[in-house]
Amino acid sequence: MLESALCSVVGAEHVLTDPDLKASAEVDWTGRWRGTARAVVRPGAPGEVAAVLAACAAAGVPVVPQGGNTGLVGGGVPAGVDGAVVLSTRRLSGLAPVAADGTVVAGAGATIAAVQAHAAAAGWQFGMDWAARDSATVGGAIATNAGGLRVLRWGPARAQLIGAELALAGGELLSRVDGPVKDSTGFDLSGLLCGSEGTLGVLTRVRLRLVPPLPAGRAVALVGVPGVAAAVALLGAVRRAGADLAAAELIGDAALGLLDLPAPLPDRWPAYVLLEVVGGADELAGMLAPALDEGDAVLAAEPGDRARLWRYREDVTESISRSGVPVKLDVSVPLDRLADIWAALPGTAGTRTVLFGHLAEGNVHVNLLDLAPAEESGAVDRVLRLVAGTGGSISAEHGIGRAKAPWLPLTRSAAELAAMRAIKNALDPTGILNPGVLLT
Ligand code: FAD
Ligand code: MLT
Ligand code: ZN
Repeated sequence: MLESALCSVVGAEHVLTDPDLKASAEVDWTGRWRGTARAVVRPGAPGEVAAVLAACAAAGVPVVPQGGNTGLVGGGVPAGVDGAVVLSTRRLSGLAPVAADGTVVAGAGATIAAVQAHAAAAGWQFGMDWAARDSATVGGAIATNAGGLRVLRWGPARAQLIGAELALAGGELLSRVDGPVKDSTGFDLSGLLCGSEGTLGVLTRVRLRLVPPLPAGRAVALVGVPGVAAAVALLGAVRRAGADLAAAELIGDAALGLLDLPAPLPDRWPAYVLLEVVGGADELAGMLAPALDEGDAVLAAEPGDRARLWRYREDVTESISRSGVPVKLDVSVPLDRLADIWAALPGTAGTRTVLFGHLAEGNVHVNLLDLAPAEESGAVDRVLRLVAGTGGSISAEHGIGRAKAPWLPLTRSAAELAAMRAIKNALDPTGILNPGVLLT
């Protein structure tokens, strides 16, 4: 019986079959995606992950890899795959000492915040950050090629990845976390797992590059602007003015209106830009003034004050979820199309639409509220076709998951999909890894 085989690998206390103990692993963060797992299994070492996969493959039982379960596309829960085993990586949270070359090997279950603290303790910084930092894992970040608040400075997860250790569906354990950073010896199997969303293998450890810490002297501005075109123009102006940018975020008025915070400015504005730069508030003010024909801003340089302004951006996701279960879409468009796409989205969706995102990457988080279940896929279809029509991406940073799998052909060609399926079939011939995610 599979359960006894799993107990012999990880220990009975780490094979959860009790409905109450499984419950939190069976539903995603938004509450939209849920399923029933046969068991939740928590391996404590890479070898145990490989053995769990081998046992499930032998039993023909599907496996859903799960890290911090903060994913927003339904990929880390057994929705639509009842009877699957959820393989949790939470116990794989070990952190090796930071190496002289500014890299670190982390267990795939280590949280973003834990890696940040570990890097800081060694005088480095981990170049990834976002509001779910205390729960999201580095394995989940690599598996989704996550982005976050610092992409404009250090890139997405893919740019942080040096190498990985991973378990394949047949129980093989492959490792590229040791040795020189400069290594050119064939296929980048670690890179292949980046963005694969648990469909090709399970990451057990990842080797990450670290960056020099952001200088302490920084300033944040929350700028009210008359529209998204003005936001894009403002970003361009401060960049040309030589701003050493650490963040450039965009918040729509509807999103700001949902926050449980005081109004940041005397007047309401159609959109708000949060900028963080290395340097002082006066310097930032000097760059903003000429660029801000129409608008208003509040600036902060003291860490506490900066943190207060950041809440107008970081609290958005939770505040939206307090006002209903959103259909969450995450798209990116060329920056010169951002303003007209932003304006077109609510009408295209045909429902209450809350917009915010990452300005520098043209990444818009489209949250659709008040949709009846029967209306959801129609609204999603209209929005994703609008975006694809601009040459944009239907997933900027959250991944495809189960939520957008039917729409992947909008932006990946038949030849690309065929190549992706060929790779999937080669590495997971029985298809046990995360069925229904990415490739349908
Ligand atoms: P999970 O949700 O557990 O899993 C996500 C996917 O990765 C699933 O398909 C799962 O099967 C797979 N997976 C997980 N671990 C592994 C592994 N070890 N090996 C193979 N596959 C694996 N995302 C951003 O990109 N940018 C943001 O700014 C951002 N902000 C967020 C803010 C909030 C408040 C919340 C709740 C989420 C946010 N997210 C953001 C989404 C989410 O945090 C990321 O997608 C994150 O990368 C998911 O990590 P996780 O460990 O929670 O993964
Ligand atoms: C964010 O940027 O806050 C996230 O990606 C989360 C979301 O889209 O809600
Ligand atoms: Zn985001």
